[in-house]
Amino acid sequence: MKILKGATVFTNNTLKKRDIGIVGQKIVKIEKDLTGDEIDCTGLLILPGAIDIHVHFRDFSEKHKEDWYSGSRAAAKGGTTTVLDMVNNSSPVTTYERLMKKKRLAKKSIINYGLYFGLGHENLDSLDKVAKKVCGFKLHMCKTTGDLLLTDPALQKKAFKAVKKTKKPIVIHAEDQKTLDNAANIHRKRTDHLAHADSRPRLAESKAVSYAITCAKQSGAKTHLTHISTRLALTRIRKAKQTGIDLTCDTTPTYMYFTRDNLEKMGAYCKMNPPVRTKEDLDSVWESVKYGIIDIISTDHAPHTIEEKNNDFKTAPAGIPGVEMRLPLLLNAVNNNRLSLETLVKTCCTTPARRFNLKGRGEIKTGNYADLVAVNMDLRKEVTRQDQVTKCGWSPYEGMSLKGWPIKTFVNGNLVYNFGKLYHNQGKDLFE
Ligand code: DOR
Ligand code: ZN
Repeated sequence: MKILKGATVFTNNTLKKRDIGIVGQKIVKIEKDLTGDEIDCTGLLILPGAIDIHVHFRDFSEKHKEDWYSGSRAAAKGGTTTVLDMVNNSSPVTTYERLMKKKRLAKKSIINYGLYFGLGHENLDSLDKVAKKVCGFKLHMCKTTGDLLLTDPALQKKAFKAVKKTKKPIVIHAEDQKTLDNAANIHRKRTDHLAHADSRPRLAESKAVSYAITCAKQSGAKTHLTHISTRLALTRIRKAKQTGIDLTCDTTPTYMYFTRDNLEKMGAYCKMNPPVRTKEDLDSVWESVKYGIIDIISTDHAPHTIEEKNNDFKTAPAGIPGVEMRLPLLLNAVNNNRLSLETLVKTCCTTPARRFNLKGRGEIKTGNYADLVAVNMDLRKEVTRQDQVTKCGWSPYEGMSLKGWPIKTFVNGNLVYNFGKLYHNQGKDLFE
C-alpha cells in the first residue's frame, strides 16, 4: 500500500492529521500511523485534486497554442486532476466523427478528462448518439473565438429541450449577440484597449443570462452558466435559483483578479470574452463565491501565443491561459482570508464533481479515486514566465507574489507532479 505520510487532510469538510493509504487507483484508508510504501508529505495540506470544468486544450490545427500533453501537464502542475474540454476547435466538435477524433488526440493527456459536444443547427435532433460519450453540451449564444454559435432564440430554446432529454448539463456562454453587434458598431472606430470591453457590454451578459434562465425553466434542463462576470447577471442568477430551477454557474479567476484598469494597461494580455469588468462587478463576483451564488470556479484556460497576442490589439485573439494558476491564486486568497478553504474545495473540487457526475472524485474519502493535490500553504513564490508549463508560454499573473502552491499531484493514485517535476501518466477519459 502506498502511504501519503504526515500531512493534514481535508476530509469530511474538516482538517485532520491523517495518513492516506492508496491501493491501485483508489483511496483505501484515511487513518493515523499507517505503514507501507511511504511518500513523505510532512507539513503539506492534502486536498481533493481540482477539477476544471472549462478549458480549451486546442490540438487539431492549433497545437502551436496547446495540445493535450502540454495542457494536461500545466493542469497537473496547478493541482488539477480532471479537465472538461470545450468544443470551439478549428474543426468544432459538433459531429460524432470529430468527437471521436478528439478522443484520440486526448489520449496524450496525463490527467483525467471529459469532452463537451457543441450544439449547432445541424445536430440538435441527434444528441442521443453522443450523450454517453460527453460530459455535457456547450451552447454559444454569441460569437467568440471560433465560429460556433446559435444566436436564434427559437433554436436556443430547441437546444435546451434537446439537451434535457439527454440528462446531461447544458453549459452556456451567455452574451447576447444583438447587444454585442450594436455595441461593436458604436465603438468600431476605436483602437484603444477599453474598446474591447465597451464592445461587449455588461448588458449583453445579463440579457443572455435572463433568456437562458427562461429556457432552463421551460425545458427543465440541467443548466450551467459559465464564466459569469457581472453583478447584474449574478443578481438574476440568485433570484432564479430561489425559484428552485436546476441552475448553477461558474466564474473564473480573471473576473476575481482583473478589471478594466488591467485591460487598459495589459492590452491583449487581458483580452478575453466576456471581457473584464468594473471593480463593482469584481466585488460582486467575490461576494457571490462566498455565498454560494457562484457554485464553481473554472479557468476558461484559453491559450494563445505571445506572437498572436502581440498582433494589432483589435485582431489579437481573445482568451488567456489559467489552468496552472487557479489553485495558486485561490490558495493565496485563502492565506489572505479572502476565501475560506471550504469554499475553495467546494468550488474547485466537490461541486464540479457532483454537477458533472464525475463519480468517485472531488472528495477525499475511502473508496474514491486517489486524485489528490498536496499543497504547501506557507510557500511564497513569484509567478514567472519561465515557470509556465502551458505551451503558450505566458501568464497574465506574471510578477504576482503568491503564498500557497501545489507541491505534489496524484491522478488515479499515480504521482504526476512533484516539486516542479512532471511525470508521465495515462489519463482517463471519464466518459469513454
Ligand atoms: O476569451 C475567450 N477565448 N472566450 C471564449 O469564449 C473562447 C476563448 C478561446 O477559445 O480562445
Ligand atoms: Zn471558453
